[in-house]
Amino acid sequence: MRIILLGPQGAGKGTQAQRLADKVGAAHISTGDIVRAEIKSGSELGKKVQEYNDKGELVPDEIIVEMAKPYLDDADAWLLDGFPRNEAQAKALDEALDDIGEDLDAVVALEAPDDALVERLSGRRQSQATGKIYHVEFDPPPEDGGDPGPFMQRDDDSEESIRRRLEIYHEQTEPLKDYYAERDLLITVDAEQEIPKVTEDILTAVDRKGDD
Ligand code: AP5
Ligand code: MG
Repeated sequence: MRIILLGPQGAGKGTQAQRLADKVGAAHISTGDIVRAEIKSGSELGKKVQEYNDKGELVPDEIIVEMAKPYLDDADAWLLDGFPRNEAQAKALDEALDDIGEDLDAVVALEAPDDALVERLSGRRQSQATGKIYHVEFDPPPEDGGDPGPFMQRDDDSEESIRRRLEIYHEQTEPLKDYYAERDLLITVDAEQEIPKVTEDILTAVDRKGDD
């Protein structure tokens, strides 16, 4: 199964991919997580991509494609979170799939209005131990010690960066909905609902698509 999760910052791509990966037996590939891991490693590449990440700008296409490609080739089944983000990246993904003789199964667009997203991002916390995504109010970390944390805010979750990321989403990423709708791959899901209901709707819609 090869599925793209598309959606604005805070729509829940990471949250849903983490919940779906085990359920559907697919690898969760998040280009944002790949970028953050490279930054944490302190490498030259990490220093280069950090400039873009912290400002909420996209990492240049040729760099991000090189970073993502080994993961795409490696896994038999994946949920892509945060890639592609513009038409050039979508075309690079088409080429990578052609090379391995595989097709996309579905593109799930998570939809929620910008005001809801800002509230979600400002309350987001990510566990440094498990990578799991939480929200201080909507999905708090477990109190039974099930996740040791610590639970950190992301460097790019400042108000300025959030605004810039949403602007880029509407300009460059949202048009991909048409790109995939034209190929009859697009599924839209209401991401303003509670987290488990969004997961359920994605699973139902993907199943239905498989039966088409
Ligand atoms: P990336 O890590 O992908 O960040 P993003 O695009 O800004 O998206 P987010 O991770 O903020 O949103 P999400 O949809 O995953 O939301 P989440 O599930 O966490 O990219 C970061 C940076 O890396 C980019 O800015 C760029 O610099 C670089 N980069 C990455 N990919 C790139 C690419 N392809 N090309 C170029 N550069 C690239 O949820 C958010 C919060 O909401 C959480 O707290 C969660 O608990 C809560 N929540 C989720 N769903 C619900 C719900 N239904 N109800 C209530 N709360 C919810
Ligand atoms: Mg994410």
